[in-house]
Amino acid sequence: MSETIRWGILATGGIAHQFARGLAVLPDAALVAVGSRSQETADAFGEEFDVPHRHASYEALSADPDVDVVYIATPHPFHYENTLLCLNAGKHVLCEKPFAMNAEQAGEMVATARAQSRFLMDAVWTRFLPTLIKTRELLAEDVIGDVRMLLVDFGFRAQFKPEARLFNPELGGGALLDVGIYPLQFASMVMGTPPSEMVAKAAFGETGVDEQVAMTLKYTEGQLAQLSCAIRTATDQEAWIYGTEGRIHVHAPWWRGTQVTVGPAGDSEKSTTFDLPFEGNGYNCEAAEVMRCIREGRLESDVMPLDETLELMETLDAARAQWGLEYPVE
Ligand SMILES: NC(=O)c1ccc[n+]([C@@H]2O[C@H](COP(=O)([O-])OP(=O)(O)OC[C@H]3O[C@@H](n4cnc5c(N)ncnc54)[C@H](OP(=O)(O)O)[C@@H]3O)[C@@H](O)[C@H]2O)c1
Repeated sequence: MSETIRWGILATGGIAHQFARGLAVLPDAALVAVGSRSQETADAFGEEFDVPHRHASYEALSADPDVDVVYIATPHPFHYENTLLCLNAGKHVLCEKPFAMNAEQAGEMVATARAQSRFLMDAVWTRFLPTLIKTRELLAEDVIGDVRMLLVDFGFRAQFKPEARLFNPELGGGALLDVGIYPLQFASMVMGTPPSEMVAKAAFGETGVDEQVAMTLKYTEGQLAQLSCAIRTATDQEAWIYGTEGRIHVHAPWWRGTQVTVGPAGDSEKSTTFDLPFEGNGYNCEAAEVMRCIREGRLESDVMPLDETLELMETLDAARAQWGLEYPVE
């Protein structure tokens, strides 16, 4: 077995639980520490996942000498300060999406990782799932010719709770940062470059957050991407890539699916479907990438590079600039 990588999880909410379950299927990962804002929640999480070090502050977690890499699982507005805390304490970091509230914060996070020679990655976990790996392979094999258009949506109907993270402006609520990043990163993965033009429209709910967003992105060779995201409207969650010689369909829910079909548009008989199930809950796939990079002495992943993360944050900034949206933390 490869050298064990020792993980710490910063925060104990919903995604922290999911990530701990993902780590549990990796024999070469050890969850050695958790940090929470209170001892009680650190202890409860520690009991649930058999974590030996249970810290009552994020600072104590960052100073734990037995931790190699910290997974940041706080709400968006805290990603910046939590990531800087851990990088400056000498830890490698995997930071939840959205990586930061804006490109300026993201730039500082990346610069700090580079100055400290620590690994840093945006937790765009879907990119490491077998379906998206297969999609990249099909594109590299030129199976659909030149990509011309793509269509990706990610909408769900969350119960309206004004104080909850999704709807609370103070916690970075809204569709764009929570789910818009998924179709945007898909488009970035396929096109390999940021858009040259973009039109973004949003509709706002009663707490003032963007509850649904539609974006049209145009690229230098005339390719177009039509992306949408929503937190109060369930959508089909499909991804389609159309090229000059055919199309790739990542079946719903594309962001954690198990099937990819390739072939001529509208002709299922001449299409091939690949079944690509994954082990664990999917978060293990991104954790495995982090561990591969750390073992190989890499400071970033070439599957989710930091410069691409910065470009994505700039696109998010540019989208909301079209509606004049600023977050309270800015
Ligand atoms: N990759 C994915 O599939 C996925 C899915 C869901 C969410 N996420 C991302 O993960 C992040 C956390 O989301 P979540 O759904 O896990 O949130 P959550 O359930 O509300 O948990 C967030 C945790 O952050 C800590 N925290 C620190 N300051 C806080 C504050 N002022 N208010 C509330 N919590 C605070 C708390 O942990 P302690 O009390 O232990 O300090 C809390 O349990 C978000 O940025 C979200 O975008 C990613």
